[in-house]
Amino acid sequence: MIHAEPKRTLITAALPYANGPVHIGHLAGCYLPADIYARYLRLCGKETLFVCGSDEHGVAITLKAKKEGITPQQMVDKYHTLMKESFEQFGISFDIYHRTSEKLHAETASDFFKVMYDKGGFIEKTEEQYYDADQKQFLADRYITGTCPRCGNAGAYGDQCEKCGTSLSPKDLINPRSAISGNTPVLKTTSHWYLPLDQLQKTFLNDYINQHKDDWKVNVYGQCKSWLDAGLQPRAITRDLDWGVPVPVKGAEGKVLYVWFDAPIGYVSATKAWCEANGKNWHDYWDKNSGTRLLHFIGKDNIVFHCLIFPAILHAQGEFVLPDNVPANEFLNLEGDKISTSRNWAVWLHEYLHDFPGREDELRYVLTSIAPETKDSDFSWKDYQQRVNSELVSILGNFINRVMVLTWKFFDGKVPAYNAAYHTQDQQYRKELKYGFHVMEEALRHFRFREAQSELINMARLGNKYLAELEPWHLIKTDKEKTASVLHFGLQIAAALSIAGRPFLPKTADKIASLLNLTFDKKLWDVHFFESLEFLGAGHQLNEASILFKPIEDEEVQKQTDRLEQIKKDNESKTATQPTALNAVKTDITYDDFDKIDLRVGKILEAERVPKADKLLKLTVDLGFEKRTILSGIAEYYKPEELVGKLVTVVANLAPRKIRGIESQGMLLMAGNDFGKLYSVGPEQDIEPGSVVK
Ligand code: 2FM
Ligand code: ZN
Repeated sequence: MIHAEPKRTLITAALPYANGPVHIGHLAGCYLPADIYARYLRLCGKETLFVCGSDEHGVAITLKAKKEGITPQQMVDKYHTLMKESFEQFGISFDIYHRTSEKLHAETASDFFKVMYDKGGFIEKTEEQYYDADQKQFLADRYITGTCPRCGNAGAYGDQCEKCGTSLSPKDLINPRSAISGNTPVLKTTSHWYLPLDQLQKTFLNDYINQHKDDWKVNVYGQCKSWLDAGLQPRAITRDLDWGVPVPVKGAEGKVLYVWFDAPIGYVSATKAWCEANGKNWHDYWDKNSGTRLLHFIGKDNIVFHCLIFPAILHAQGEFVLPDNVPANEFLNLEGDKISTSRNWAVWLHEYLHDFPGREDELRYVLTSIAPETKDSDFSWKDYQQRVNSELVSILGNFINRVMVLTWKFFDGKVPAYNAAYHTQDQQYRKELKYGFHVMEEALRHFRFREAQSELINMARLGNKYLAELEPWHLIKTDKEKTASVLHFGLQIAAALSIAGRPFLPKTADKIASLLNLTFDKKLWDVHFFESLEFLGAGHQLNEASILFKPIEDEEVQKQTDRLEQIKKDNESKTATQPTALNAVKTDITYDDFDKIDLRVGKILEAERVPKADKLLKLTVDLGFEKRTILSGIAEYYKPEELVGKLVTVVANLAPRKIRGIESQGMLLMAGNDFGKLYSVGPEQDIEPGSVVK
């Protein structure tokens, strides 16, 4: 919401976890929009710095390294290199791609913590936390899984339920288990530093978010507002782990900064590293009064961290500029299913680059066309083929090729002279092109990249329409001078496309510029040039014509869909046969341990949905000797009416627990897995409610 022209713009793109390769969801959600915007600002001659890097701390990394039997450092080294190279090859124009395992980052994050600590910006709390006694490990974040109290998802993590997006703490989980061993955790005392978000909400965040009511995207503002309405809670920003930035306080040995505390500071350390290498002063980018406009491009799962927690940290620290906008996107799905790294359900960037060499812009084009800017969207290979073939090949590629070939054929590849007598004939086209450019600029400024890119294709469409109307291939037989004017104007449209196309399709824009022998000067993206629509003078020599895009063949698409089919099959059979981390056999127990559980046959008498909890059902269960209210996260698998009269197995002596304000007095046994349906487990035959299961 900076009103005055900012001195410079600092663009950040979410630091991806270095525990897997980049996929199309990451690209469409965050890296492509950020790249388009950075390229656009640079073309306008605005001072711009675009930073990113790998997020190399946190439990997502250590957990996967442990599963694969490698060290966290080995894991992050592997994926950092892969991601950096793929981004480069794809044409994401970061000024720097840094990493959070660098010493410079640890120093930056550490200093940040110390300043806040010295100011009394944290609260130290000692309390009981879940602990895996076998593994001798506190279970923070993803080290603990269980059932989400909000939606009933059985695979929720200690920090977040990925199904409903709720942010959780381990103690919220129902039936918590260690993700390392599957063990039921015990409670153990530990102490941590908390960020008093409840206070920061009152003193700062309410106003900060309210200020952005009208200039932030509706989905972003809406999510922030609902967090604030629910009331923020103090959040622990340290962890008992041995991988991360050590907490720089005496007596905090064995503790590190929470990954979501250190990761956004990664934007600062990346800036510092770039400034060191380029003889600049990083304070010019980050100081509160530097005149920098800070923009965070992210996916929707990162909204709370970038819009509330990081600004609160920056504000509490006191010396830093605050984010001016956070244009977050929603999620991209793949062939109708949620993209998932663990299920290999993704189109991986490095694989695409391998399978479709030289076709980076084709993927950029399709992902921007379907970007989930306002709601989730879907990528399918058929749609990819269709968009490339019917838009890039048939509209943009076709126009450029026709105008090039005709100029070579009739004018030896030299820009022919324009005759002002035809100005009136071209007037309508000029008007529409200028208007299209204006719409594109407006859309770019407001982060509506789909719309901006579709204007590009509209301009090419207009070029085709112009040629189809004037028919220079016929005209040449009767009026060479008019043909010259038509091709002159056609070539200016091609030049306009090569300039306007640069933020979206950088390699294609370069190719068009090279066909036109147009030396690119960034000042070309200038209202003045688009007003005059005169980029190439008469007599200017063009280069040889060549094709811009090849159609995507059916076989290429088939190969990709076959690959996905195979992955689907593999996942189904894996689910059926292999224990995952979540359902690995737990540690042995004695019969006496087992005997502590009182299992009974219950009969469901009533079942109803729980308002505002999509996955929960409230059941009244007859246990023979009494009736119980039980909440169960099975609404996704059973309709309430299907359950009435059903015999089920109930854990009858599970301590009652309040879920969404209702006391649940027991638990139903369910058979299921992480990906599939849940099935209730009951006796084969009719048997009296209350019968003992043993
Ligand atoms: O969601 C993620 O992949 C996180 N690694 C994003 C971090 S963004 C920033 F804070 F570094
Ligand atoms: Zn949930």
